[in-house]
Amino acid sequence: MEKNFKRITVTSALPYANGPVHIGHLAGVYVPADIYVRYLRLKGRDVIFIGGSDEHGVPVTIRARKEGVTVQEVVDRYHYLIKDSFEKFGISFDIYSRTTSKTHHQLASDFFRKLYDEGKFVELVTEQFYDEESNHFLTDRNIRGECPRCHNHDAYGDQCEKCGATLSPEELINPYNAETGHPLVRRATKHWYLPLDQYQPWLEKWILEEHKEWRPNVYGQCKSWLDGGLRPRAVTRDLDWGIPVPVEGAEGKVLYVWFDAPIGYISNTKELCDGNPEKYGSWETWWKDPETRLVHFIGKDNIVFHCIVFPSMLKAHGEYILPDNVPGNEFLNLEGNKISTSKNYAVWLNEYLEELPNRQDELRYVLTANAPETKDNDFTWADFQARCNNELVAVYGNFVNRALQLTQKYYEGVVPACGELTDYDRETLSEFQNVKENLESLLENFKFRDAQKEAMNLARIGNKYIADCEPWKIIKTDPERVKTVINISLQLTANLAIAFEPFLPFSSERLRKMIAMESFSWEQLGSIDLLPAGKQLPKPELLFTKIEDEVIAVQVKKLEETIKANEAAEYKAAPVKDTIPFEDFEKLDIRVGLVKACEKIKKSKKLLKFTLDDGSGVDRTILSGIAQWYEPERLVGKRVLFIANLAPRKMMGEESCGMILSAVNYNGDLSVTTTLDDVKGGSQVG
Ligand code: MF3
Ligand code: ZN
Repeated sequence: MEKNFKRITVTSALPYANGPVHIGHLAGVYVPADIYVRYLRLKGRDVIFIGGSDEHGVPVTIRARKEGVTVQEVVDRYHYLIKDSFEKFGISFDIYSRTTSKTHHQLASDFFRKLYDEGKFVELVTEQFYDEESNHFLTDRNIRGECPRCHNHDAYGDQCEKCGATLSPEELINPYNAETGHPLVRRATKHWYLPLDQYQPWLEKWILEEHKEWRPNVYGQCKSWLDGGLRPRAVTRDLDWGIPVPVEGAEGKVLYVWFDAPIGYISNTKELCDGNPEKYGSWETWWKDPETRLVHFIGKDNIVFHCIVFPSMLKAHGEYILPDNVPGNEFLNLEGNKISTSKNYAVWLNEYLEELPNRQDELRYVLTANAPETKDNDFTWADFQARCNNELVAVYGNFVNRALQLTQKYYEGVVPACGELTDYDRETLSEFQNVKENLESLLENFKFRDAQKEAMNLARIGNKYIADCEPWKIIKTDPERVKTVINISLQLTANLAIAFEPFLPFSSERLRKMIAMESFSWEQLGSIDLLPAGKQLPKPELLFTKIEDEVIAVQVKKLEETIKANEAAEYKAAPVKDTIPFEDFEKLDIRVGLVKACEKIKKSKKLLKFTLDDGSGVDRTILSGIAQWYEPERLVGKRVLFIANLAPRKMMGEESCGMILSAVNYNGDLSVTTTLDDVKGGSQVG
């Protein structure tokens, strides 16, 4: 923080209330924001942390229509679910409100009206696609039609998924409503545009020259938008869900969701301050005083809106401060695949809370250790388990547990006095003396991964110290020395409780209870007299416990099943082959065979050898490439369908007389065909 700001307004992107929140949200936005805010609070800084749900936009309306419920029902459901998940993960918002609130509708509406009155918008009439059946205009994603390049009939208004072409809806041949299939017509409609092109020179100076310190990924994305040249952006939409455009003759139009949502940060601040002016003062101080530092925590898909669009809106309005930094994260993948709300491929926070109860800090820890700060990162359950067991349990937990157990064992829980320090003690203490400074500089530069590593390093120092001093070996011979070793270990433990508070708030609180530490502050970090000699400590419990293999296996299986279900849902049957005359079919002799024996063919991974009763009285041998899917024993005694008049073929030195029929599943798996009822071997199929 180069400038000396008096206070800090921290915002975190308002999640869409169209589904629960998942680990990607937590890793990219809410955990880093929460670490930052907790740190500032510990330092005694004046800070507010603003959150809320983004409840407008098209996705919530689609979800409502699909489920046959009202949009209000959808946003209510997810708003409360999301709010609850955040609370349980210790995301310490000062307020978590919603963009359907009265305060927000009023403030966003006034914001628009001020810009409108001052002539800050450009009005444009364009032709858009309209559905005369349902009487509404459609958004690009809701329009489908024939691709002008590859003639795929279900291309989207913005993209053809078959040939990959980027499209705009006007290019589609015979456009139709994606939800109902009804054909669309073009109709003229008026909208208001924010002329971003006019803000380009100002933005170039403000970002490219004055904010070179922004993260390279954020700065780089801004630069490429600016290099490409900004164009006016529509800030209104033809929709019936949202904040009505407060202008006469704008019936049926609402503010574009990306216009109203960021104003939600301001509305939620207003709601917070108006509700508790003694504590928070006037909302305007948090948004209008140049001595307030504004910081937006977001994911990378939000960069353009927070660095270019919203600042231009604030600038156009004229009364507001601008963001001083926008720490934007890259994406978190899950077991090598993209997280997807629509495909239900995610670790949902509400489910995690139920399936891994009381392990919020474990997830916070792993998500920060793997935070996608500079590049996309991958979350895997194996890594989750390894980090919990090898770092939280084996390093942090182990050290604390040793220090506290030895205190119980040797001194009945009373903190022993520190005697004379040895050179080794001094060396150890000097190593952790700079932790405070290092942590501060990393946290203030939004390097949360490295910061957490630094905190963990403190535990490593402690672990090594206790292991090197081996108090259990010298307790009889040198009890005075042991007192010093345990005292220093307990001081380190107290330091850990402070250092980890922003990262692992639940464990820190438990640890503070175990060392009876009532008050604490960031400034105490690095001090070695946090726990006075003679202080009685309560009985300790384990700070962390191991994550067992079974817990992980359940989670991995759950994800694999989602992938399978998605593959099955996306499967489209192959087109039917050319028509053939009945006589051609009659040439095939398909029959039922009883499997008398079935075995693996040595030297072949694919083939199974069938011995069939085909009704002729002589056994028939058929080889079939299904070994990957069946244990041979499973097939003995079953009826199978086979082609009896296929010319014999030699494979792996065996003659195969015919072919067993199998269905090919969507994923390539083979499944042997059979008859519903008991039919004699040799019966014809037709
Ligand atoms: N709802 C958006 C998303 O999930 C984020 C909105 S951030 C705000 O991508 F600034 F607009 F609030
Ligand atoms: Zn195409």
